[in-house]
Amino acid sequence: MIKFLFIILIAGFLLQQILHMNNEKVERIEVKEFGLLDDGRTVKVYTLKNKLGSSIEILDLGGILKSINVADRNGKFSDIALGFNNPQQYLTDSPYMGALIGRYANRIAKGRFTLDGMEYSLAINNSENTLHGGITGFDKQIWKSSPSTVNNEAQLKLSLISQDGDEGYPGKVSAIVTYRFNDQNKLTITYLATTDKATVINLTNHAYFNLNGHTAGSILDHEVMINASHYTPVNSTLIPTGEIATVRGTPMDFQTSKPIGRDINIDDPQLNFGLGFDHNWVLNKSTEGIISLAATAYSPKSGKFINVYTDQPGIQFYTGNFLDGSIKGKDKTFYQHRDAFCLETQHFPDSPNQTNFPTTELRPGEQYKTTTIYEFGIKN
Ligand code: GLA
Repeated sequence: MIKFLFIILIAGFLLQQILHMNNEKVERIEVKEFGLLDDGRTVKVYTLKNKLGSSIEILDLGGILKSINVADRNGKFSDIALGFNNPQQYLTDSPYMGALIGRYANRIAKGRFTLDGMEYSLAINNSENTLHGGITGFDKQIWKSSPSTVNNEAQLKLSLISQDGDEGYPGKVSAIVTYRFNDQNKLTITYLATTDKATVINLTNHAYFNLNGHTAGSILDHEVMINASHYTPVNSTLIPTGEIATVRGTPMDFQTSKPIGRDINIDDPQLNFGLGFDHNWVLNKSTEGIISLAATAYSPKSGKFINVYTDQPGIQFYTGNFLDGSIKGKDKTFYQHRDAFCLETQHFPDSPNQTNFPTTELRPGEQYKTTTIYEFGIKN
């Protein structure tokens, strides 16, 4: 009898633990149906939450960061990420808003590169160049998704297989991207990839931020610091010339935080090519490959800031120059010129054709692994 009671007690205890674990899951990460694509496929939306009341929505379509809800200095929450209410718009209207970008973030000149003596031709989708993985890049695929709660942090693991020849790239690539959101408002993104043939790879996230809220208009009052003494100047099609140039004495100098609007309208050939800032900065690193502070952005109006940390050698700072009021985003907002900025951690554009840039080659048996952290906070 005593033995029987003892077993019941233990069973009860175990059941409680299991229920508690499940509760924890419900609290930290939830899944819902976001909607249907025109071809009938369902898109799911995961909500990652933390104890501060912040929440981040991520789609299994493109691993897209659909919203980022964080408090301002008065405790008022608003969504600082641009995006759409309808999943199909992410395939047809979106300039990569919030999406995971692959296989190769940024541009490859004329969609061509040579690797181990073989010449490869990629899908061309940006004047004469390939941009952000081609016509149907990683941003337009539905990823396999697996939510969990690990050490009280919401975690979403997304995986994708890209077949040999996808958009012209060699090798069957297996990519795994994990988003983790903790109680310090840090969103950590870990990118892993392997291949069965020599290839090139460069993964990033293309979130569009507005620290006054995604409906708030211009970001020219935001103050940005980029921890870089050099950048990679571009030609008129935004392909790097190969030069690693100093930022000193140019509008590209963000070594000390300054308002985005301060120099953006200067008549400068680089700014004219990009219609504003749309360049890759060469991050200052004491040791290659360590995770360090890459950039900060702050809105004096809301008090919200973002700190970006990465182990990557570069960051693309893009000031929404191609937004023109023609796309209707969330909350019926027509996003206008410079209503958002992006800080895309990455290897340099066109690295496969630039011998003096850090390599983006990946070979069988090697693992591509990089980490970027977006930390959201408030300053007075
Ligand atoms: C990147 C590019 C920009 C632009 C956007 C998407 O940031 O550098 O030139 O193409 O993506 O519109």
